[in-house]
Amino acid sequence: MSQVVGQSLAHESATLHVSGAAQYIDDLPELAGTLHAAFGLSTIAHGRITKLDLAPVLRAPGVAAVLTAKDIPGLNDCGPIIHDDPILADGLVLFYGQPIFVVLAETHEAARRAARKAVIEYEALPALLDIAEAVAAESWVLPPVTMTRNDAQAALAAAPHRLQGTARHGGQEHFYLEGQIAYARPGEQDTMHVFSSTQHPTEMQHAVAHMLHWTSHQVSVECRRMGGGFGGKESQSAQIACAAALGAWKTGRPVKLRLDRDDDMTLTGKRHDFAFDWDVGFDDSGRILGLAVTMASRCGFSADLSGPVNDRALCHIDNCYYLDAVTVKSLRCRTNTVSNTAFRGFGGPQGMFAIEYIIDDIARELGLDPLDVRFRNLYDPMPMNSPLAPAGRGAGGEGGMHDDTLSPAPSPAGGRGERNTTPYGAKVEDNVAPALIDELARTSDYAARRAAIAAFNASSPVIKRGLALTPLKFGISFNATLYNQAGSVVHVYADGTVLVSHGGTEMGQGLYTKIRQVVAHELGLPASAVRLAATDTSRVPNTSATAASSGADLNGKAAQAAALKIKTRLAAFFATQHGLSADAVSFADGEVRGGSHSMSFADLAIAAYRARLQLWDSGFYSTPKIHWNKDAMQGRPFFYYAYGAACAEVAIDTLTGESKVLRVDILHDVGKSLNPALDIGQIEGGFIQGMGWLTTEELWFRPSGAQRGRNMTHAPSTYKIPAASDVPPVFNVKLFDNANVEDTIHKSKAVGEPPLMLAFAVFFALRDACSAAIGKPAPLQAPATAEAVLRAIGGLDA
Ligand code: MTE
Ligand code: MOS
Repeated sequence: MSQVVGQSLAHESATLHVSGAAQYIDDLPELAGTLHAAFGLSTIAHGRITKLDLAPVLRAPGVAAVLTAKDIPGLNDCGPIIHDDPILADGLVLFYGQPIFVVLAETHEAARRAARKAVIEYEALPALLDIAEAVAAESWVLPPVTMTRNDAQAALAAAPHRLQGTARHGGQEHFYLEGQIAYARPGEQDTMHVFSSTQHPTEMQHAVAHMLHWTSHQVSVECRRMGGGFGGKESQSAQIACAAALGAWKTGRPVKLRLDRDDDMTLTGKRHDFAFDWDVGFDDSGRILGLAVTMASRCGFSADLSGPVNDRALCHIDNCYYLDAVTVKSLRCRTNTVSNTAFRGFGGPQGMFAIEYIIDDIARELGLDPLDVRFRNLYDPMPMNSPLAPAGRGAGGEGGMHDDTLSPAPSPAGGRGERNTTPYGAKVEDNVAPALIDELARTSDYAARRAAIAAFNASSPVIKRGLALTPLKFGISFNATLYNQAGSVVHVYADGTVLVSHGGTEMGQGLYTKIRQVVAHELGLPASAVRLAATDTSRVPNTSATAASSGADLNGKAAQAAALKIKTRLAAFFATQHGLSADAVSFADGEVRGGSHSMSFADLAIAAYRARLQLWDSGFYSTPKIHWNKDAMQGRPFFYYAYGAACAEVAIDTLTGESKVLRVDILHDVGKSLNPALDIGQIEGGFIQGMGWLTTEELWFRPSGAQRGRNMTHAPSTYKIPAASDVPPVFNVKLFDNANVEDTIHKSKAVGEPPLMLAFAVFFALRDACSAAIGKPAPLQAPATAEAVLRAIGGLDA
């Protein structure tokens, strides 16, 4: 039992989750006098408010107060970076569904009913809804950014083959099971405690303080768990936290704001949809020689996190591939729609979608297997002589495909040498993609199934099958270096039990479980001796969002550092008592041993307490080696990369456009896993969520008419996330045997976001099937709904 790290411990809340005993914010016992809040939303995409009559709202049954922007004593803003996000619209409405006022009533129901009674008139202004309209009007939330290496135009002009293309993919609703919610409780002497379903308690603290014209020490924010966040509660929980806190401040009563699902989907931002145009030059083998891409994303009415999301899209347009001469222009479109935000992958999936489409196009143009072309474009594998290379892995020879049609291209003789530097100037030092892809191609039986599918398609006129194997490489760390820090406080109580606080938040991903394992391991305790406290800004300050997949990396190291300090102190105490040297003392199995002496950890704790020793301590971590120049788009923004690959087989019905995923094989790199069961859960969940994004999940905003700009896909009746029945009938998920070459917590790798990008295999398998149906490259766009499949094969021409 002594080795808790690396074991498949159950999620610390697993039984609570499935039995309904886990307390989410709406489950907290309500204080007497609690009021319930609801937003009043705009019914126009862009315009000036000419009349705002809230008297009927105030007169409605059970209503205690109605608040507008005028009631905000400090800043009417909840934007995370650029301060252009009003908490409540002030005169100007920027999208359909924007909160204009907040009503406080005795019940949730009464508040929602009352909110509809407002009489609002507008002077309509022209509204830009989509990327095309915004690009035509040059409407940006932030100025365009270009990332360049070498002379792409010259390389394009000199290339033996050249191809232009376009692609687009849709946005994505987070669809966290627990919607946005906050519960604010006013305290004495102008203080406020806010329970917020948020990935970023510190930012909620700041937003509430700024809104009330208060300071940070007046506001504390607590989050025990979220019922999912997926990026949607990184910044956008602030509007909800602020509105609840405003109500509590104004009335002196506790206020809960729980968004109804339709309101949540109407007023919160989503994944950015992107449109791409490219010009690519390549050789006969499909190797890319020059690439010019313009990528435009729909950011919505405000900046929110769109700057960093689009920067990450730029930093992932290479995916696993070496792009020698490349220029990518990123347009950040301002539209009169919800402000799009973080969503699992944070722009990475968007950038990678483009290069995967481009490579697919190249293969189809040359009549090659797309996997062959992917393989030829990979970054060089980690050199064998590298001190970083794990034993027995990474050699070019060993990493080669067994099928000799799939071999890595040789490095250009006398050329620039190693193909292992990204367009943003970072060296790829831990590349396991060639070996990983090689292994998956073998275990998924790729080559044989490719042949079998060709034979099937030749004799099947209506149903067509498709196959694709796609790799991923995802950079781990926040691009903005400053966020890569974390703190923790570990309490050892005198009875030997342990309570751990850290800055990370639990959203189902298992962060608390992993931290529990790390601390238990460090102190030689069973996991049951370690409990995680709810994340609270009054316990650990100045925290970063739990995002960029770095929760366990950052907080694991911080908690380990705190536990290590306590262990060192206890070891010295034990050693002195028994006349030993401190390094002769070990902690395992709940016992402390040294020489011929041993005692239980609990007995040592009480003895140390009696001897007046500090039994608790804090730890801090900041990620080493990283630096980033945002203006030059150069540096080493990522401490390391996580890798993975998926192979998917699909079938489409060419008469209806319906599709099915028949089999999926995944091989994913989590370094040395802290907890294989949790990691496999993240891989499966991330993959399915990515599959939803690329297949069935479609957002639709009314393009015309009186309700122009209204999101009509604001409920599960019209917005289709994958269901249990969409899990592939054959779904093989394996962890790649690897250890992080960098000094991460127990050599593990982050796992939260990367697996979402495994779903490219499904999309490109669908494109493969569509292309088989029409005998040429099918212009399939994402999401590949039945309608999109039909359109791609010409079945919707009428
Ligand atoms: N898993 C669950 N169950 N619920 C979530 O909300 N969010 C994802 C991922 N996995 C999420 C999840 C996102 S967007 C991120 S950034 C990471 O978890 C954050 O947690 P971590 O850094 O601890 O991996
Ligand atoms: Mo995740 S999109 O970084 O919250």
